Amino acid sequence: MNPFIKEICGLLEEPTGLKAGDIAAALTTPPDSAMGDFAFPCFPLAKVRKAPPAKIAAEIAAALKPTPLLTRIEARGPYLNFFVERTAWLREVLGTIFQEGDKYGASQEGKGKTIVFDYSAPNVAKEFRIFHLRTTVLGNALYNLYRMLGYRCVGINHLGDWGTQFGVVLAAFEEKGDEKKLAKDPIRYLTGLYVEYNRRMGDDGALKGRAREWLKKLEDGDAEARRLWRLFVDLSVEDFKRVYKRLGVRFDYYRGESFYFEKTDEVIREAEEKGIAEVSEGALVIKMRNDDLPPIIIRKSDGATTYVTRDMAAAKHRYEEFEFDRMLYVVGSEQKLHFEQLFEALERMGYEWAKRCLHIPYGIYLELQEVDGETRRVKAGTRGGFKVLLEEVLDEAADRAERIIDENYEEGFFEDKRRVAEAVGIGAIIFNDLKNTRIKDVVFDWDSMLSFRGETGPYLQYAHARICGILRKWGGDVRGEVDFALLDDPEEFEMSKLLARYPDVIRRAAETYEPSALAGYLLEIATAFNKYYTDLTRHRVADENAPDLSAARILMADCIRRVLASGLTAIGVRPLERM
Ligand code: ARG
Repeated sequence: MNPFIKEICGLLEEPTGLKAGDIAAALTTPPDSAMGDFAFPCFPLAKVRKAPPAKIAAEIAAALKPTPLLTRIEARGPYLNFFVERTAWLREVLGTIFQEGDKYGASQEGKGKTIVFDYSAPNVAKEFRIFHLRTTVLGNALYNLYRMLGYRCVGINHLGDWGTQFGVVLAAFEEKGDEKKLAKDPIRYLTGLYVEYNRRMGDDGALKGRAREWLKKLEDGDAEARRLWRLFVDLSVEDFKRVYKRLGVRFDYYRGESFYFEKTDEVIREAEEKGIAEVSEGALVIKMRNDDLPPIIIRKSDGATTYVTRDMAAAKHRYEEFEFDRMLYVVGSEQKLHFEQLFEALERMGYEWAKRCLHIPYGIYLELQEVDGETRRVKAGTRGGFKVLLEEVLDEAADRAERIIDENYEEGFFEDKRRVAEAVGIGAIIFNDLKNTRIKDVVFDWDSMLSFRGETGPYLQYAHARICGILRKWGGDVRGEVDFALLDDPEEFEMSKLLARYPDVIRRAAETYEPSALAGYLLEIATAFNKYYTDLTRHRVADENAPDLSAARILMADCIRRVLASGLTAIGVRPLERM
């Protein structure tokens, strides 16, 4: 525990009759340092003491004396406010960051606990589209956050590599498939086949029938169906992996629906044995307790399994293998009903762990379009023009970032311009995706997400690079032991308070499944840093004539850099050293 909080707890245990842990948990931060640095609200004491909280606060304050770490203690309304000794505070905060290095912000609170993350899960043969970007980016950030907290994290890519779309693609391939074309550009080729056949299929019973036949063949293990299917999946996954690499995302397992299809017999039998499944119009269904919810079909009348059957088998298999404490499905809010039904079905199967499964929904992508001379926000990709293939979007991001670099930097500034452009462009997309609460829709607007000035990825990367530049220019080692009394500017103190919040921010972002909490915090840090260093005469970091002051400021700069780098990495944006 931070020694300042410990000291407050020590002072308050006796007069409040509370335990140290409860006091620490109750502490808040006043909105303004002029009011104090920590506040203890006296409301909960009012009942026991039968006195108004303000009176209790005043009484306790009157009896407390300042200590070396707490220079002032005062009552302010119902709050007891504590002021820290600033030099000691700076030593504590910056010293801790310096010592813990890359581990600052991490903890072991999740030790021994396992969380399974189900994210990304694009559909083979259908598309790897921009719509799968949100789940990929959010899932990755949550995975990283929980890892920082010491949890064992298991990331599973539940690829859509089974089901109806394969019936369509196989039928289309039988008609006019070409394995050479397929190998050249599998995702686009298969998507093309799928879209085209699907369109013609409309009401055409014959085409529909053929798609159904192929699906049946596939599920029954027909050799040719399986061979082609394997080929489609393998080639597509290779392509997906290239995109994941560019996004800096990895998975512990690629286990698609096909993997779990093999295990559906068992759950279907179990559902029958437990008497929760019934036959309805030839299909096997599980009814929901709430009549408003449609029943789920676990086996179609032709014997085929469904998306939800495979999800039931997947959940069971994952619990058996990982004994998870929690399983998070990072999937768009349009699948809300699916997960409600799935979780209820698991519960009715008698799995006590069903309540540990959570759907983490998020909003859709919007793009700006001119409609009748007005700029409107419309669902992305519905009106054409918008690039929907994820890889094309990433290419465009890098191209645009490269153009911005060309306009703003002298030639030769970057040795590896394309690599920087890639990091900036992709960082911009990722940050744009994560900066708002996840349930909000994301507006996809290139200019605003790539701006170096707005609330963007490039803005943060730039702040990080700027600090790296200051440190490079300084050239010397960063020392952890400096004269902290020299950091006597109020802005320096405020900065240290901001840095001290980092571990809490990580915890809160994870607990609420909101990487946006971390994104917002990083913006705060970068903005505070920019403000601080703009006034270079007052805050020149490295000054030959003031070596001690320089050493102290360099330490501060390095601490800011560490927090920025750690936070950016956690949300999946690459920190850059030079920009
Ligand atoms: N492939 C699905 C889709 O694109 C998402 C799968 C989500 N995960 C799951 N276990 N159902 O809509």
